[in-house]
Amino acid sequence: MVATVTDDTDLNGMRAAGRAAASVLEMIGPHVVPGVTTDELNTLCHNYIVDELGCIPAPLNYGGGGGQMPFPKSICTSVNHVVCHGIPTQSKTLKNGDALNIDITVIKDGYHGDTSKMFCIGEPTVLAKRLIKVTQECLYKGIEVVKAGAHLGDIGHAIQQHAERNRFSVVREFCGHGIGKVFHDAPQVLHYGRPGSGMALEEGMTFTIEPMINAGKRHIKILPDQWTAVTKDHKLSAQWEHTLMVTKQGCEIFTLRAEEKAVEQVQSASVR
Ligand code: MF3
Ligand code: CO
Ligand code: CO
Repeated sequence: MVATVTDDTDLNGMRAAGRAAASVLEMIGPHVVPGVTTDELNTLCHNYIVDELGCIPAPLNYGGGGGQMPFPKSICTSVNHVVCHGIPTQSKTLKNGDALNIDITVIKDGYHGDTSKMFCIGEPTVLAKRLIKVTQECLYKGIEVVKAGAHLGDIGHAIQQHAERNRFSVVREFCGHGIGKVFHDAPQVLHYGRPGSGMALEEGMTFTIEPMINAGKRHIKILPDQWTAVTKDHKLSAQWEHTLMVTKQGCEIFTLRAEEKAVEQVQSASVR
């Protein structure tokens, strides 16, 4: 079913879940430094989600249908050429120049909030800085076209155009998704497409936009751990994600962070 907010209980639930997820990304920032392991970041986030927010980390033990191994950790940590679904481990120590995506999904009172951002460890390379900035712009350009009456293809088109104009490529194997009481619901929100194609957006629909943009070719492969997606050419990949709701005029972003301030500033926002 297409995820939709139908009453004030849903609306308040999604607002609270989104705010909670965003607050985890705000909390973890100062801990993302050279020498920390992705497992230490996982533990910090897990404890914050459970003890401070009273939420459930949705990734923990997620999946596992059809014989797949359930996801073993509470957050996804995707470093450099890892596209998404990186599994935190004690053996992955972050070093100067690494680019890291942290993807947080919490369940609060039955509602999901799903959001991710890129972090630079120490001094980023020129390429990483540009890819991370363009990918965040792709997310914002996708968000900008959201409003009742627009089509899913408008979102994909806006993202694809901006990525390819910058000579980057769009990953096709993963997409945004409806979200609410269910983690991954309809519709699928592709990050490429043609204007006017796909489902028409209606007020109250709730979904994520989460473009994965590669510095090299778009192709990916999944590692034997059954989760970690990496670029086939081992070049850099970046991702940003928000959870939002369609409104008459545009949208309400549930997972906005303080550093993003207002949607009006979104266009000029950049990675610092
Ligand atoms: N948070 C991811 C998304 O944006 C999904 C992670 S599922 C997991 O949809 F099992 F890998 F954690
Ligand atoms: Co998502
Ligand atoms: Co996510």
